[in-house]
Amino acid sequence: MARRKLVYEGKAKILYEGPEPGTFVQYFKDDATAFNAEKKDVIEGKGVLNNRLSEFFMTGLAQIGIPTHFIKRLNMREQLIRQCEIIPLEVIVRNRAAGSIAKRLGMEEGTVLPRPIVEFSYKDDSLGDPLVPEEYIIAFGWASQQDLDDIIAMALRVNDFMSGLMCGVGITLVDFKIEIGRVWDGDYQRLIVADEISPDSCRLWDQKTGEKLDKDVFRRDLGDLADAYTEVARRLGVLPANVSNASKPTLVN
Ligand code: TMP
Ligand code: ASP
Repeated sequence: MARRKLVYEGKAKILYEGPEPGTFVQYFKDDATAFNAEKKDVIEGKGVLNNRLSEFFMTGLAQIGIPTHFIKRLNMREQLIRQCEIIPLEVIVRNRAAGSIAKRLGMEEGTVLPRPIVEFSYKDDSLGDPLVPEEYIIAFGWASQQDLDDIIAMALRVNDFMSGLMCGVGITLVDFKIEIGRVWDGDYQRLIVADEISPDSCRLWDQKTGEKLDKDVFRRDLGDLADAYTEVARRLGVLPANVSNASKPTLVN
């Protein structure tokens, strides 16, 4: 295969130059990291599952009129995406207390929040992605007030879509993180959902048993991460044909 130019390598994905201007190829690695990469491992098959799952969620979002960077899946580990300028924020939506909010406010994990809460972290690994108020975002020019209003509305729509989808397969969407990109049509700016949506960036709990089906399995050493993601993919009907682990269920034609 022709050598491609690497544009950016992150902890879980690599971006290569795409076949046409304005596109990138997004490659999903098997690497898992947590706590700002203090904890690391390679989870065989994770990249394949996340490529499929992110395709599935982004395609569904496009169907309900939420624009995303996703163009098409290219193969088991790669998808063609639209190039965009990433706003340096992690946009987090929470339906129940878990993770950092539970710790910060001393809440029991699983407590239903009075309404979905949207919060922002500044994307900077060297600072540990600190939580930032809207005031900082506007003052430092990371996004405008109008952008923020649009981002919050978009994040809440993504939350409704993802919550409904998960509810339909017996899973509670506890929280998730998305990233937003800007694209330009001449002078006109549009915001799109970028990066990925996968069990790496969500908290997903089985409705009946409370079993965790997301990256907390890795963060907290709760079992086999690939098994958890395979279960999510299986329930959603998007299991790829040949995930490497032979013990896993495979799609039968
Ligand atoms: P938190 O409770 O640790 O702040 O995480 C909130 C949500 O954001 C959770 O679904 C996991 C996701 N997340 C990421 O996708 N990337 C990250 O670096 C962190 C810290 C959380
Ligand atoms: N994404 C972060 C890391 O790679 C943290 C996390 O997801 O827990 O370290």
